[in-house]
Amino acid sequence: MSVQRVLTGITTSGTPHLGNYAGAIRPAVAASRQPGVESFYFLADYHALIKTTDPLRVQRSTLEIAATWIAAGLDTDRVWFYRQSDIPEIPELTWLLTCVCGKGLLNRAHAYKAAVDRNTAEGVDPDAGVNMGLYMYPVLMAADILMFKAHSVPVGRDQIQHIEMARDMAGSFNHLYGEHFVLPEAAIDASVATLPGLDGRKMSKSYDNTIPLFAPTAELKKLIFSIVTDSKAPGEPKDADGSALFQLYQAFSTAEETRAMRTAFDEGIAWGEAKQALFEKIEAAVAPMREHYLALIAEPARIEKHLHEGAAKARAIATPFLGELRRAVGLRNLASVPGEAKAEKAKTAQPQFKQYREADGRFHFKLIDADGRLLLQGEGFASPREAGAVVAALKAGSAFEMKEAALWLAGAQVAVLADGVDEATLCAALGAFAD
Ligand code: TRP
Repeated sequence: MSVQRVLTGITTSGTPHLGNYAGAIRPAVAASRQPGVESFYFLADYHALIKTTDPLRVQRSTLEIAATWIAAGLDTDRVWFYRQSDIPEIPELTWLLTCVCGKGLLNRAHAYKAAVDRNTAEGVDPDAGVNMGLYMYPVLMAADILMFKAHSVPVGRDQIQHIEMARDMAGSFNHLYGEHFVLPEAAIDASVATLPGLDGRKMSKSYDNTIPLFAPTAELKKLIFSIVTDSKAPGEPKDADGSALFQLYQAFSTAEETRAMRTAFDEGIAWGEAKQALFEKIEAAVAPMREHYLALIAEPARIEKHLHEGAAKARAIATPFLGELRRAVGLRNLASVPGEAKAEKAKTAQPQFKQYREADGRFHFKLIDADGRLLLQGEGFASPREAGAVVAALKAGSAFEMKEAALWLAGAQVAVLADGVDEATLCAALGAFAD
């Protein structure tokens, strides 16, 4: 069975609410546990800059959303969990895609078109108040997706057009430069709940009707008791399907509990009683996570550590892949003449990467020079594939910019230089892998 790559991003401009949890986070955490799936979940903080210019809000939201995913049970060892802005290859890929993206394609993006329509209706310049971040939003998003060769992208319906645009850019690039990208598909799961908010409309920050996922117990209770209902008295039968209260209850209950609540509605449960039942249900689901969440929020350095590890893991894929793309478009090592370079290399003894498993069960690598001297010692990785990806990154990094490999190494913390070896020596050795 071939591995299915699933990728999705969450813009870090708000505080997670119950709707985000039931509609996106909970199903994503469950999906990440399935065999045969590789999950890439990331914090889209570059995208947040398009929605807000408040730096504190971006920082706070990034912290809250990262803590929420971890508190919701995401196994960061099993998935790729990272912050978009920790992966400089993403903005770099954005440029490569910009160069194959028709301007007309972006003119048709819903968010941009809506802004133009509003301006036109108001009789002002069509592009008034539109910055290039908004305009380029779909290209950045395409880079997020194409960088990791995602097959499937779970998103809300409002994002389908963006996935189609990513396919479009991938197709153009592949056509011009060869088959480098996987064409992604949007995954819209009909079984996943869209939760109503306090006023019965879809729960959304833009309607100001949300229930924050980790509101303190007293606030949670107060908000639940403020959910709008009709004026039916206790004892009067109530319509379960038209009730926001009922839909929220369903999202946090088993099928059996839901059936019992439906009967209670038919039999005229008092709204106060139904609200109390809903409050208890949600509190029971959220309380253990809330505790974990608060502990995480209190120690942001721990979250940073998770994100740094995630970035190293993601860059182990992104760095070599971007190297491949750079070579494909002609951003190449000037000394590499295809064909000749390889023939020459074979003549002299070469540095080598060696991969092996230690007694601790982890997978290591080292780089030795042509005389067998240790140059670089890799950290232990959970799988041979992760170790292999870092080795590939080092080999590929050397092919475009020697100094970058050393910098990357320092940032990603995946290996250390051996005693007495300096970066120049390392770069010279890595240079042997340049094609
Ligand atoms: N645009 C998405 C949203 O607002 C967030 C996002 C950014 C995203 N990059 C992505 C989603 C890549 C999926 C894949 O919901």
